Amino acid sequence: MATLAELLRGRTLAPEAVVEHLQRLVSSWGILSDLSFSDLLLFVPISAQQGGFVVVGQVRPTTSQTLHLEDLLGREVGDNERPLLARACALGSVVEGEVPVTARSERARVVCIPVRMRGDIVAVLTREAPLVVGRRAGELERVYVGVFDRLARMVTAGTFPFPADEPLSSEAPRVGDGVMTLDGAGRIEFSSPNAVNALHRLGIYRGIMGASLAELGLEHTPVPVAFNQQLPVSEELELGDVAVFMRCIPLLDQGKVTGALLLVRDVTDLRRRDRLLLGKDVAIREVHHRVKNNLQTISSLLRLQARRLPKGDGRHALEEAERRVRSIAVVHEILSRDTTDEVDFNDILPSLVRMAEDLSSATVPTKVTWSGEAGEMGAQVATPLAVALNELMQNAVEHAFVALGGHGAEHYHSGPAGHGVPSPGAASGATGPADDPDNASGPRVHVSLSREGDLLSVQVRDNGSGLPEGFSIEATTSLGLSIVRGLVNSQLGGTMKMYNDGGTVVEFVVPVKHSDRDELARI
Ligand SMILES: Nc1ncnc2c1ncn2[C@@H]1O[C@H](COP(=O)(O)OP(=O)(O)O)[C@@H](O)[C@H]1O
Ligand SMILES: [Mg+2]
Repeated sequence: MATLAELLRGRTLAPEAVVEHLQRLVSSWGILSDLSFSDLLLFVPISAQQGGFVVVGQVRPTTSQTLHLEDLLGREVGDNERPLLARACALGSVVEGEVPVTARSERARVVCIPVRMRGDIVAVLTREAPLVVGRRAGELERVYVGVFDRLARMVTAGTFPFPADEPLSSEAPRVGDGVMTLDGAGRIEFSSPNAVNALHRLGIYRGIMGASLAELGLEHTPVPVAFNQQLPVSEELELGDVAVFMRCIPLLDQGKVTGALLLVRDVTDLRRRDRLLLGKDVAIREVHHRVKNNLQTISSLLRLQARRLPKGDGRHALEEAERRVRSIAVVHEILSRDTTDEVDFNDILPSLVRMAEDLSSATVPTKVTWSGEAGEMGAQVATPLAVALNELMQNAVEHAFVALGGHGAEHYHSGPAGHGVPSPGAASGATGPADDPDNASGPRVHVSLSREGDLLSVQVRDNGSGLPEGFSIEATTSLGLSIVRGLVNSQLGGTMKMYNDGGTVVEFVVPVKHSDRDELARI
């Protein structure tokens, strides 16, 4: 859809300031349309010589049916088609009349309101309503149209739109939410049924008419400031659990505030929902935090228990269990930090890498590196992924360099001709000693991640002794790789392979599901 500025460009002689004035008018004229129960159009003269106007704005009422079903933006009309427009411009005052509605075989009642800016008529605002009104207007309708007329006079006087209008949130009250009108002294003249309800929610039941909000016990309303500054002011009133949003639009005449339109909306339910959502967010993070703490406690207990055993299988098994628990805790740690229910796996990986390097330091100090981006994923993917990667990195540092026993350096693959571990960012299989002079020829493990859409590919490569003769990932019954196989194939629904290539290479591809927000919403 063309913007107002685009519609004006090239067609008319409207300078920037006029465009800005009309933009402010159009951004606040929903109230005018709703108060008048009518469609509004904004016409701008095309050129002084040729005459004619172009429609640069159109709005439909939310309080009534629309008259113009078609999109009239950009439509040009000649002076003979709509003579009232030129007349309103020439007179500089409101002109009423009738026009045919093109899309229907009807006529419409039109009120042409000249839009003045710093003394000049720059456009014409028209209120367009069906000619026959079905029923006699009630009090509410009469009051609304009365306020519209006063605002229309402000448009012609150049005082509406306001020079500085506050930016409106989507929660700002509209005419349909509740309307009060105030006289020049801030006393209530009229209150729509919804506005009365809102006052009831604030504990005000009697004596509304003729009283000011302050007399009714409502302090901190937007009314005094709006009267004082002659600008619209919004304020949210809270009384216990009840929240009412008020927007006070002063009505001006000859530089004086002669009254005000007060739009009122009971936002108690909205606020309650906000609080619930916020509460849920905090609660979810808190749960992750507690899960992490509990897992860390379990892991510490396992560590203590392991230390009491003599070196051997039992102790080793407890130490492995301790690290498995810790790898899950890492995921919850990251989840507890963020407000989202997604984690970037690259935030988790460094902790896992550190765990593997720590483990290696006792036997064969191994450099563990990683490259690539795993991207965002839900906890239901990140957790099994963390456990699997932990398992594979531990295996590499535990088994690949066993022959070294912490001494010598002849059992691992290295050198430019070998299939060493790619350094971060380098092409697979090409390790240059220059990349990392300290470690290029030492024991290394490298994890590469790559994400394409919802598929995550992971490779864990070491430059060690390779897998034992006849080893097969499908057939192995050992615990660590059985866990990895189960996580990758069953839990994550992916595929994996293990092979020797200048060391051991484990590759797997898993679909990355995003966190199920609906699931979370049900918590
Ligand atoms: N990166 C590796 N390099 C060499 N051998 C490996 C590697 N990863 C696994 N293996 C072999 O696979 C076996 C099974 O591993 P796993 O299931 O994790 O059990 P565990 O680590 O408890 O021995 C290991 O004992 C080891 O012989
Ligand atoms: Mg293992």
